[in-house]
Amino acid sequence: MPGDKSISHRALMLALVARGRSRIEGAGDGADIRSTAAIVRALGATVVASGSVDGRVTYDIDSPGIDGFVAPPNALDCGNSGTSLRLFAGILAGAALTATLDGDHSLRGRPVARIIEPLRAMGATLVARNQDSLPPVTVSGHPALRPIDWSTPVPSAQVKSAILLAGLRADGTTRVHERVATRDHTERMLRARGVTVRSTTDGDAGATVEIEGGVPVQAMDERVPGDPSAAAFWLVAGAIHPDAVLILPGVGTNPTRRGILDLLERMGADIDEHPAGSGGAAHAAGSVGEPTADLTVRSSALRGIDVSSTEVAGAIDEIPILCLAATQAAGRTTIRGAGELRHKESDRLTGIAAGLRALGGRVEIDGDDLVIDGPTTLNGSSTDSFDDHRLAMTFAVAGLIATGSTEIGRAASAAISYPGFFHDLERIRA
Ligand code: S3P
Repeated sequence: MPGDKSISHRALMLALVARGRSRIEGAGDGADIRSTAAIVRALGATVVASGSVDGRVTYDIDSPGIDGFVAPPNALDCGNSGTSLRLFAGILAGAALTATLDGDHSLRGRPVARIIEPLRAMGATLVARNQDSLPPVTVSGHPALRPIDWSTPVPSAQVKSAILLAGLRADGTTRVHERVATRDHTERMLRARGVTVRSTTDGDAGATVEIEGGVPVQAMDERVPGDPSAAAFWLVAGAIHPDAVLILPGVGTNPTRRGILDLLERMGADIDEHPAGSGGAAHAAGSVGEPTADLTVRSSALRGIDVSSTEVAGAIDEIPILCLAATQAAGRTTIRGAGELRHKESDRLTGIAAGLRALGGRVEIDGDDLVIDGPTTLNGSSTDSFDDHRLAMTFAVAGLIATGSTEIGRAASAAISYPGFFHDLERIRA
């Protein structure tokens, strides 16, 4: 599996914030991670990439640390990556310089008010396009920010992480409250680097994270686990194919990322989990303390399920591929409260329905819910990824079980998170 995209971004960013040398092994090699690495370089760190194998790369970073950042002469190009834009905004909020974060056509359409408001409340100056709702965003930071107590209306690890990264530079305790606990990589990685971060779950009321500011982030080496969001495509491919066994080594199974595993198992997917390395897998657990497992998936008889909005938040990037699984499941699958999908790399709610319908799937959008009836035979046809990597890969897996040939427009977008995807698909098909 390619290195986890979320963890790779954070490892590069924290290596920039810390003074000194950090080595990141097994980072993802997708275009989004390259965007982050280029920004780390533009802000003054030395970044050497080596040994690109199987979608993974090793980065050696030597950084002057946040107090030694260089003011970049040009806008920092986040490309297609929302995580780069939102997390760097949090870092820059606490740095004594002005920089502009920009990106491609898709990123320029994605909401940023959700980070501008809390970072302004902390004392940074942020200005964006269209009444501060859309990128580019210019951030003028301040090394002595105010701590805040912030409740995020939309469950978003990007918003939480932006506030925590700014909280590093606040004088006191910064708190973020979320309605649903989102991926906690930032918290784990900050703790590993000497920062005090406390997480409490408030049951049905959500979760709260607190960070103590004023402590420098320590440089450290780490190994990135396999990306569960990439593995999800093969889990579904194996489950819906009539005659398959696929083994996926070293996949991250962090409780805040394993939602797709639990949902597929509830649908009846035949998935075995073994602690990583037990079957001779290459990627054992890394120093970030993320749990990993070797996964085996076999052809399965799936049934439709009801997915709550809380579960959607825990599998936000996997909803497109889950929809494909639902077209092959007996009965109805309802995915509730998926409106946030409209604000991803494309409007994924519309894109997934359009693509699966083109192949013969029975998919309806009802407000913010997706309703899918199955099982249906998919017939090869023409689809469009809308330049969205996760839609391109979903339609490609659909093409594996569809009759005839399936055409995917703008399929090269898969390289945003998984440059070797079509190569791996070809290996499996063969
Ligand atoms: C990410 C968080 C998610 C996810 C994105 C990566 C992260 O976004 O969709 O692909 O690395 O923090 P939101 O937290 O905004 O939902």
